[in-house]
Order: sequence, then structure tokens, then C-alpha cells
Amino acid sequence: NVDPIDERYEDSFTIGAAVEPYQLEGKTAKILKHHYNSIVAENVMKPINIQPEEGKFNFEEADKIVKFAKENDMDLRFHTLVWHSQVPQWFFLDKEGNPMVDETDPKKREKNKRLLLKRLETHVKTIVKRYKDDVDSWDVVNEVIDDSPQNEKGLRESPWYQVTGTDYIKVAFETARKYAGKDAKLYINDYNTEVEPKRTYLYNLVKDLLEQGVPIDGVGHQSHIQIGWPSIQEIEDSINLFASLGLDNQITELDVSLYGWPPRPAYETYETIPEEKLQAQAERYDALFALYEKLDNKISNVTFWGIADNHTWLDGRAQQYNNGVGKDAPFVFDPDYKVKPAYWSIMD
Ligand code: XIL
Repeated sequence: NVDPIDERYEDSFTIGAAVEPYQLEGKTAKILKHHYNSIVAENVMKPINIQPEEGKFNFEEADKIVKFAKENDMDLRFHTLVWHSQVPQWFFLDKEGNPMVDETDPKKREKNKRLLLKRLETHVKTIVKRYKDDVDSWDVVNEVIDDSPQNEKGLRESPWYQVTGTDYIKVAFETARKYAGKDAKLYINDYNTEVEPKRTYLYNLVKDLLEQGVPIDGVGHQSHIQIGWPSIQEIEDSINLFASLGLDNQITELDVSLYGWPPRPAYETYETIPEEKLQAQAERYDALFALYEKLDNKISNVTFWGIADNHTWLDGRAQQYNNGVGKDAPFVFDPDYKVKPAYWSIMD
């Protein structure tokens, strides 16, 4: 019964949350309807879940999220058509079952490339046709730039890249554009878009693709950030940089971790997190949303990568680095769905 976040920002941008289908009932459903006017699937629209085997599409779980969005008049982001992670390996096996990346014969490499691009086209086309009237924003490709560059352009050396170069990016966008609704927007999504060298590599890639006529509408900034990193100035510069190319920006996977990198010292439970930590986090949220609001003509959506602190992928990361122990609390609702100091600071 506190004021809805989406109403607070209705003149600026839509407010979203990432969800699993089981969260579309009960308490979480209530919170979603009250505070958010946009939604995205945390996992069920990824390639591994949508097309686990070639030609066997599984839309059941994805459909639940689409239905919920429709029934509640929410915008829908689609995450994600293409990614190097959570993608089934059959995409990258040739007709004999050998990994395409191992092929050395130039003729066979060319054949593999055609086959992979064909599979990609089929994947994108099938999904986009099905959801064209439902999806407002498509993450067309995710994380195509590497953190530690392996090549001149900083492109991630995924199987997609190794087999097709940057053609997979072009084909993905072109196919999505061909079948998507005319008002739907197409995004290139990535993390650490605020920091070098990634920011510049991403900028150069997008600029280059735009010059070639590739239909990119915007940049998705995942924004898996920390209380002290990156700086507000870096975030502002990054939004402005991509806006200078005439592109929209969306904040697509926002969470503000309590930890640095690696995540230490990890708290064992939510109850053991010091009050000062949550205050510092609230101040961070305050500065962040003040910035988003200031740049609201360049930002059309802000999506949290979850709803409340009882369900966050960051717990898994904290635990991975701390022998199975670690609780993070990145959102504005606590594990019992009660508002945190961060809620009040973004509502101010
Ligand atoms: C994460 C999900 O939150 C986890 O549940 C899953 O196990 C792994 O993927 N960048 C992305 C998201 O683009 O798809 C990731 O989501 C988080 C990092």
C-alpha cells in the first residue's frame, strides 16, 4: 500500500522487473501489478529454454509471461534472441555432429557459416513472428563485446563470432526487424557499458553497424552495478555517448550489489547486513534515479533484474566466491517484500 514506483516515473520512463513464471502468482504478482508497468523474463525466453533441440520450440513458460503482461497492460521486453550463454550447443554442431569451431577447411567453414546463420534466422523468425504484437523491446543480441579483448575490435570470441564473424549480429537484427511489430524497438544489450575498454568497443561496433544500415534502435545497459562502482559520471557519459548516435537507451538488468568484486565479505543472511550498508545503498539509488530522471529523454525504460531481495541471481555469485555462503540484497524491497531505505530514496 505504498505508492507505485511506475507512477512516480510515468512522465520519464517505464519501470520493469525480471521474473520467473512462478512469480506471476500470489504476493509477487501483487507487487508486480502495483509497482511495475513493464516486465521481462529472467530465463524462460533464452535460447536454451525456447529451442532446446533444433526445431523443437517450447513456448509454454514464455507464454505465461506474455499473457501476464497483456492482462495487466504492461510493456514487455524480450530477453534474449541471441547470446553465447544459455544457448544449446546444437546450434554450433555441423551436420556430422562436429563442433563448427574446429573446422579448418575453408569450404566447409563457409558451409558451416551458412548453416549457422540459417539456424539463427529460423530461431529469430519463429520467435519474433509469434510475439510480434506483444513485445515492445527486443534484446536482439546480448554481450557481444568481451571484457578482456581478444581481438582488435573487442568482439567476444563466442562460437557465433568464430563461425560467422559479425554477420550473426547483422542477420539477427535484420531478421528481427523484418518480422517485429513496426513500433517495436531493437536493442544491443551488454554489461559494463560504462567502463573502458568495453564502452568504446561497443560504441565503435554500433556506429559501424549503423553505418552499414543495420537496424539497431537502442543500447541496453544491463547495469549490474555496485554501491561505489561505476561512478555516476561514467554512467551519465555512457548514456550520452550512445544517445549521440541517435539511439535510445534502456537500463535493462539493474541491481545494486552490496559487494565489490569479488563479492567479499559476503553476509550470511539478510538480517546480518549492517544498517549503514542499506543506507549507503539508498544513497546510491538516490543518485542513480536522479540521473535517470535528468536524462529521461534519452532513457525509455528502467528494469530491475528481479523484484525483492529473496530472489536474486547475485546470491549465486556471492556464494560461488565464498564457499557457498553469501546473501546479497540489491533491490528496493527486502526478502519479505517490505520497502527498504532505497525505496524511499527513489520515490523522493
Ligand atoms: C541470469 C539469471 O538471473 C540467472 O537466473 C541465470 O542462472 C543466469 O542468467 N546477464 C544477463 C542475464 O543478460 O540473462 C543474466 O541472468 C544475468 C547477467
